[in-house]
Order: sequence, then C-alpha cells, then structure tokens
Amino acid sequence: TTTPTRADKFSFGLWTIGYNGTDPFGGPTRPQLDVVEAVTKLNELGAYGLTFHDDDLFAFGSTDAERQKQIDRLKQVLSDTGVIVPMVTTNLFSAPVFKDGGFTSNDRAVRRFALRKVLRNLDLAAELGAKTFVMWGGREGAEYDAAKDIRAALERYREAVNLLGQYVTDKGYDIKFAIEPKPNEPRGDILLPTVGHALAFIETLERPELVGVNPEVGHEQMAGLNFAAGIAQALYQGKLFHIDLNGQRGIKYDQDLVFGHGDLQNAFALVDLLENGGPNGGPSYEGPRHFDYKPSRTEDITGVWDSAAANMRTYLLLKERAQAFRADPEVQEALEASRVTQLSVNTLNDGESYDDLLADTSAYEEFDADAYFGGKGFGFVRLQQLALEHLIGAR
Ligand code: GCO
Ligand code: MN
Ligand code: MN
Ligand code: MN
Repeated sequence: TTTPTRADKFSFGLWTIGYNGTDPFGGPTRPQLDVVEAVTKLNELGAYGLTFHDDDLFAFGSTDAERQKQIDRLKQVLSDTGVIVPMVTTNLFSAPVFKDGGFTSNDRAVRRFALRKVLRNLDLAAELGAKTFVMWGGREGAEYDAAKDIRAALERYREAVNLLGQYVTDKGYDIKFAIEPKPNEPRGDILLPTVGHALAFIETLERPELVGVNPEVGHEQMAGLNFAAGIAQALYQGKLFHIDLNGQRGIKYDQDLVFGHGDLQNAFALVDLLENGGPNGGPSYEGPRHFDYKPSRTEDITGVWDSAAANMRTYLLLKERAQAFRADPEVQEALEASRVTQLSVNTLNDGESYDDLLADTSAYEEFDADAYFGGKGFGFVRLQQLALEHLIGAR
C-alpha cells in the first residue's frame, strides 16, 4: 500500500514544512507555520514523527516563559495526536554569533555558549523522549585556509562531542548522537564534509558507541558521491543512526527537493537497501525515515502539504518497486549470472592460511587469467536495465 501509516516511521523536520521560502535573493513566499498546525497536518497525512531545532519551536533569545509556552503547546498537540519526537537538534547556525561556527568557532566564548545551548536542548530532547540528537555543523568550517586551524578545530569538535557524551551518560539519558555531514553551504568548506570523514572522526571519540551518522541524500550528492553506497558503508559499520531523505540534482547548491525528485535510480537503490538489506538480506535500518527537504519557493501552503505527502508516497512506491525487483525470478537469475551473490562467500576457505593459498596452484600457477576472463562479461548492464524497468513500472 502507498498510504502512509505510523508503522512506516515517516518523520519531518519542523523547519522543512515550516520553510517560508526565503533565499539569499528574496524574501518569504509563505507565512510562518505554527507547530500545532504542523503536527496536526502531519498526523493526518500519516507521518509518525516531528523533529525540530530549538529555534524552530521558540525563537532564539526567547524568555524562559516564552520557551516553556511553546514546549507546552507542542506537548499538548503530541498527546492529542499521538505523534512523537524521535529526534531533536540544535540550531548553531542562524544567530549572527555563530557565523564562524559553534563548537569550532575561533572565539572561545562562542564555543562555551554553543555548548550551553546544546546541553539545554539535550535536557529538552530527553524530556520529550527523543532517542537521537542530530548534530549538523553547518557553520563549522571556513572560507579561507589561513582563517581556520583545521587540526585545532577538529580537536575542539572532539572536545565538544566528548563532553556531550559524558553528559548523557551521567544523566542516564537514552540518547545517541548522529553527525550530519555536508561538504559546503553555508560555509565555503564544512568540517566533516562527507560520511567517510564523519565515520573516521567518530572513532577518535571517547565514547564512539554513542555516536553515528545522519547522512543526507543531497549532501553526499553535492560532493559527487553515491548516496546509497555511503549508506551501505554506514550500515556495515553499525553507524546509521538516522537519515535525511530528499532530492538533489547534481553538484550544485543544496536543493532539498522532495525525495525521488533528484537521482531517482539512486533513490531506488537506497530504498531497496533500507527495506531489503541488499542482495542477501543482511543488516538494515530500523530508524525513522526522516525527510529533510524544502517545499519549493514557488509553492503556497497547499504545495507544502502536497510536497510532504509526495515524499512519503514516493518512498512507499519505491518500496513496492524494490520488492517486485527482488521477487522477480529473472532478477534472481541475473544476480546469479552477475555473480553478485558470490561476493558474500569468503575468499579463503575455512581455516585456510596464506601458506595454503600459496600452495594452491589452481589459484595462480594454473590460473590462466586471459582464458578465464576471455569474453565472459558480468552482465551488469542487463541487471541494471531490469532494475530500471521495475523502477518505472515496465515489469
Ligand atoms: C541543511 C541541513 C539541515 C540539518 C538540520 C538538522 O543543509 O540545512 O540539512 O537541515 O539537517 O539542521 O540538524
Ligand atoms: Mn540539504
Ligand atoms: Mn538543507
Ligand atoms: Mn539535513
């Protein structure tokens, strides 16, 4: 079925449906969206979760009373609808004070302020039952090489994430962190620009088990990378803690299109991976299917809700198509012919040592590489055409 239900675990950022259409060249095209209306409508459309930055819910610089009022309004609509808050994140990028970053600003007082802002928001995340805390360091970076000591900045990043890990551990919060990579925008270059950079950084932390990644489709594609392949590596390393789904068309500014409105073939591969775990099954993803997109600046409020629904519908359609792809006997046969399934067989036999391998003359001395390969292709093109035909509903 392509009607979203709670079991599908679709969630949306308040800043996504709440985006008012402002860009660097022009003002808003839509009025501000209230959180109560947002949750009510998301619930009607079949989403199960709302996520937000502190500043999405209560404006930066709010008094304690204003802040509490908004938290109470959110809690009320959550209990009225049954919508949950699976993830919370902190805005360390909009206020002018963060123009050179939060955790890694050259200015020490800004770094201390940023940490306090995040600690306060962690308490709120725990109070609302959020299990994931996303960290997108959009301003953690630089435009000029001389302006940022990258090694020192990474050390300050590490100091910050270690402190947050200590905090949730001491408080007993059931919260894990997910770092969201992005190569650039708003900074010329952002620290931890890709999934690979983030995965390597996480291993340097005091509590690496508390920290994973929140990859976004468009962000990897802005770096010219294959998103589904990056997700496969994050899954392989047990680090896919959250995901930001959207669409992007090539290496350019962050488009945040509806999921599937960018590289559709890669979106198909992604849904197949998340839902089916790849050709031999295997570890897949149980967390929220979170959309981080922007309703286009040309749209009115009807277009906002149409686009929200489109994200979910596209995901479910791709899920159906991926199931049909996996179930097709011709696909199974093509996978065999392409030796895709052979890749899961160990290269050495059980207990075989390098001495045994060296003694195996069939592996080398008698292995006629030219004759072995001669004329015997892998058939990947046929396989991809089968995938494409399932994707476009031709099979
Ligand atoms: C962006 C990012 C953000 C983050 C958000 C949550 O490019 O603007 O994707 O939308 O996902 O700040 O941390
Ligand atoms: Mn984006
Ligand atoms: Mn974005
Ligand atoms: Mn994002």
